[in-house]
Amino acid sequence: MLAKDGTAAKLDALLKELGPVARRGTFAEAAAFGEVVLFSVYWPRFEFMLDQVGAALDGKVVIDTMNPLKVNERFEHSHDTELMARSSTSEELQRRLPKARVVKAFSTLPSQVLDASQWSQNPVAPSIFVAGDEQPAKEIVFQLVRDAGFEHFDVGPLVGARSIEQLGVLLHLVGTHQFKGEYARLAPTFLLSVKAAEVLTKRPECL
Ligand SMILES: NC(=O)c1ccc[n+]([C@@H]2O[C@H](COP(=O)([O-])OP(=O)(O)OC[C@H]3O[C@@H](n4cnc5c(N)ncnc54)[C@H](OP(=O)(O)O)[C@@H]3O)[C@@H](O)[C@H]2O)c1
Repeated sequence: MLAKDGTAAKLDALLKELGPVARRGTFAEAAAFGEVVLFSVYWPRFEFMLDQVGAALDGKVVIDTMNPLKVNERFEHSHDTELMARSSTSEELQRRLPKARVVKAFSTLPSQVLDASQWSQNPVAPSIFVAGDEQPAKEIVFQLVRDAGFEHFDVGPLVGARSIEQLGVLLHLVGTHQFKGEYARLAPTFLLSVKAAEVLTKRPECL
């Protein structure tokens, strides 16, 4: 079940592509549906969305994809470094939803490369970093990450979401300066560097 903030009609193409397995709902209906909820919310709309979903997320595995981006009156976005110095979007979500099972995932890759069909012929799957306090909830997310065609990297308890979000800042800076705003080019770079590090760790003779 899908629900969308802002222009709801932007979901039409996706619903058509998914066919009868998917349907549209209100925020409350989508939050109440199923065991796992992907909470992929524009950070300035966080409080609004919590008001909408309320206790419907109690007991659910809630996957937080958010980046702590604030917006100014000229609609320019920047990372909320004040928040990032003391917390993360995931910890804020867990604090506001103490009965939910919050797990951070899918927040570092640009949306263009979340389409796994782009990687199906690739011998190496893109990396998805996962943080969460509850191991069974993380195991469910690990499986979903694999089902979606990616490889999961466990970064430990939910406080690790801070590091994942910092990585988002680094990638954003590289995308802006190295790739002149072509953020889709981040994926191969990052994918290869993580994989290369793993290979070198297993085969230190290569160093
Ligand atoms: N996109 C990515 O590459 C990416 C990657 C990793 C993580 N994330 C994170 O995942 C979450 C969702 O990302 P996203 O790309 O789907 O959305 P987004 O661009 O971060 O957020 C904009 C969405 O919020 C809606 N919205 C509702 N009220 C709004 C308002 N007052 N001002 C502006 N937008 C408003 C917009 O609706 P309209 O459709 O009407 O514009 C649009 O759907 C975010 O926290 C983001 O940081 C995104």
